[in-house]
Amino acid sequence: MPAPLRIGVVGAGWIATDHVFVLRKLGHDVVAVCDIDVARAAEVAPEGARTYTDWEELLDREELDAVWVSTPPLHHRAPAVAALENGVPVYLEKPIARTLEDARAIVETAEGTGVVCAIGYQWHATEALEKLRDALGGQPVAYLWGVSVGATAARPWFLDRKGGGGNLLERGSHQLDLQRAVAGDVASVQVAASPVLLAQSELDELGDIEDSATMLLRFESGAVGTVLLAWTRQGQPGSYSLDVLAPEATLHVKLDPAFTLSGQVGDERIKETMTVHPFERSVMRFLEAVEAGDPSRVFCTPRDALGTLATALACERSLLEGGRAIELAQVLGG
Ligand SMILES: NC(=O)c1ccc[n+]([C@@H]2O[C@H](COP(=O)([O-])OP(=O)(O)OC[C@H]3O[C@@H](n4cnc5c(N)ncnc54)[C@H](O)[C@@H]3O)[C@@H](O)[C@H]2O)c1
Repeated sequence: MPAPLRIGVVGAGWIATDHVFVLRKLGHDVVAVCDIDVARAAEVAPEGARTYTDWEELLDREELDAVWVSTPPLHHRAPAVAALENGVPVYLEKPIARTLEDARAIVETAEGTGVVCAIGYQWHATEALEKLRDALGGQPVAYLWGVSVGATAARPWFLDRKGGGGNLLERGSHQLDLQRAVAGDVASVQVAASPVLLAQSELDELGDIEDSATMLLRFESGAVGTVLLAWTRQGQPGSYSLDVLAPEATLHVKLDPAFTLSGQVGDERIKETMTVHPFERSVMRFLEAVEAGDPSRVFCTPRDALGTLATALACERSLLEGGRAIELAQVLGG
């Protein structure tokens, strides 16, 4: 068993709690936690860990083997870039950033320094993705449809489009990332959203974001994909899945909470259940990459996540411009 690593955490909210749980379960030491809200830092910090309200101070004072950046998307760039420049590997929660400018700075720093950096799109880490690729065996993908329907927590930055990119970026980008991992880069997108509120209909303060939307993706390969996305009220049943059609394959991946791959390839029926949750698998692979000093081992690289962000930003532009088709080149070109 490798020696425990010394981990720092920046941003001590919902997802940081899950990360600290997994890191401790894997036998690593979370030695320092930072949040601008000291009470949150104290709540997430394991016994004996130091707390900070300024991540620069945390990076200055602590000897770390890796840092987790789990702040809201507008606050990813500064701590991620600083840690990488100091030679500290970074597990950066998805999306890579809110803006392309921030994302490009993170990619350039990660690639320029050669320090390990993973982006926390955990569906990219499911064994089901590897098995799906094996099942396809190089066949061209014709059609994909992803479903992401369910409840989630209403954090203030999530309700604010400028802060979180709305449902499209915060939740829909998990599906965009997964479909890109199956079918490659997206050439153009179109989006329609419903004005009828679902989860937000029970909130005292509304955000300026959509609760439900359909994204239509045209891939460079010729494949066509859709993402059916809805944020529903707490207590309503959720549904998370991806279906993929190729000439000789009809495949269904059940996502969260249990991961399975089922369907048919040629005449053969398949059904497999995955054994490790991808959230944990993504973390474990990052830690292996840190041990090996090999940035290419992570499941979702900063460059992968930059492509996913560009796709989500194209979707956002389509949504805000009445659903017209947006070429990725229009977004990437500035
Ligand atoms: N992988 C997943 O499934 C998943 C799930 C939820 C959230 N996320 C991602 O994780 C990130 C955090 O989301 P969350 O739901 O935990 O949000 P959250 O609002 O619960 O927590 C974020 C925390 O960051 C703190 N913070 C803000 N600016 C800071 C700064 N400059 N320095 C230190 N702390 C700062 C806030 O005070 C807050 O406590 C987001 O990027 C989100 O998209 C990923």
